Amino acid sequence: VEAFLAPKPLRGKKLLITAGPTFEPIDPVRGITNRSSGKMGFAIARAAAEAGAEVTLVAGPVHLATPRGVQRIDVQSAQQMFDAVLPLAAHQHAFIATAAVADWRPAQTHEHKLKKAEGGATAPTLAMAENPDILAAVARLPQPPYCVGFAAESEKLAEHADAKRRRKGIPLIVANLGPATFGRDDNALLLIDAQGRRELPRSDKLSLARELIQELSKRLS
Ligand code: CTP
Ligand code: CA
Repeated sequence: VEAFLAPKPLRGKKLLITAGPTFEPIDPVRGITNRSSGKMGFAIARAAAEAGAEVTLVAGPVHLATPRGVQRIDVQSAQQMFDAVLPLAAHQHAFIATAAVADWRPAQTHEHKLKKAEGGATAPTLAMAENPDILAAVARLPQPPYCVGFAAESEKLAEHADAKRRRKGIPLIVANLGPATFGRDDNALLLIDAQGRRELPRSDKLSLARELIQELSKRLS
């Protein structure tokens, strides 16, 4: 009822959101991932749909239900997330990158399961390759959507997050102290743009998502 009665400041707006971790395969049965739960991104997708936006959610491997009215695309690796996002990005009003994208992947994926050598030979060494930066690539499009980045930092929150915002060439970054927030149902956020900072005090992730979406609506109108 609450959602039904809510104002629709994002009616007619298209939003693309990434969420969750990525999974980078080593062989058919193993891979590298991280502890992102996807909860913040899914809450933002829900809040955006409630606000009337047409929402596409590109999700890494998570165990979460798709919010009502949201179009979901499931991916595994960072490269797959990049390939899903880039063709859609130019047609969006806003892009919100909440995904915890792996910075590196194993340089090669083995076709068959790696086996322990007979007689206990040495453990394998993984060579790593750098993944594409999805957010930076979207921000570099000729006519980019309004780009919102997320930054989980373990220290010097505002300073590191603002440096990241400028490095990626995006107007707004949302900072939080990680990794303590991973998997939790609440969070506290710091919004940083060229004008300054605004703190969204600790609350449940859906309430924070609704506040963030309100803030975004102002910027898109
Ligand atoms: N991001 C992305 N693609 C990547 C890496 C990050 O789209 N390959 C996005 C994240 O979704 C997030 C923002 O960039 O919105 C910042 O991610 P973060 O990992 O904090 O920044 P990095 O630039 O990867 O820097 P570092 O991990 O070294 O702090
Ligand atoms: Ca990173």
